[in-house]
Amino acid sequence: MAMIKLAPSILTADFGRIAEQIKAAEAGGADHLHLDVMDGHFVPPITFGPLVVEAVRRATKLPLDIHLMIEQPERQFEAFAEAGADIINMHIEAAPHADRLLRRLHVMHKRAGVCLNPGTPLSAIEEVLGVADQIIVMMINPGWGGQKLLPAMFDKVGRLRAMLDERGVSPDIEIDGGVKLNNAAACVAAGGSVLVCGSSVYNGDASPQANLRALREALAGAKIGEGTGV
Ligand code: DX5
Ligand code: ZN
Repeated sequence: MAMIKLAPSILTADFGRIAEQIKAAEAGGADHLHLDVMDGHFVPPITFGPLVVEAVRRATKLPLDIHLMIEQPERQFEAFAEAGADIINMHIEAAPHADRLLRRLHVMHKRAGVCLNPGTPLSAIEEVLGVADQIIVMMINPGWGGQKLLPAMFDKVGRLRAMLDERGVSPDIEIDGGVKLNNAAACVAAGGSVLVCGSSVYNGDASPQANLRALREALAGAKIGEGTGV
């Protein structure tokens, strides 16, 4: 079974001192850095593009996990790959040719992921479970950090974990949105192997590194998929 990974999202970090905020995530034991790219179409806000990813690449050696909340994601694959992305995730709602696009990312020697909004059924990605390296289950409706996790998504994660086990494939299940100290273990018990943590790291009670260490402690003894998580 995969180890549990923590992937801080810099969306709610202080961009005025982003290099420092990234160093704090490293010091706190982050496994990946989650970068939320929004185009103002797929979701209302506009965040950042390859230029910022390039700057983040220079600031850290951590794997960069790019969450593309954009229309026609394939048009930006090369730019994010050149900027230093390690994992490129597209939304299934914006990618009718997901199988082809996931394989294209593999040809570019990138890990390839697919994401589902809360309202999108698991059946939408069933045919690419054996191709994707990562599946992002949105626990909130995308567009903003700091939202409250939708409890109904625990069952969805559990059903996805069962589908993967049934097929004998093991892409990472990344849990994105509303992960906090009091629900992190439940996210893993439901089946999550990677936890995105934005506001719980950068807007929590303590420093980012202390918040990350507290999350890691809250996961002590947690086993992926060991429970319904509700
Ligand atoms: C929202 C993004 C999330 C967000 C997570 O659309 O995809 O990655 O930054 O932030 P929290 O952990 O605060 O919900
Ligand atoms: Zn995200």
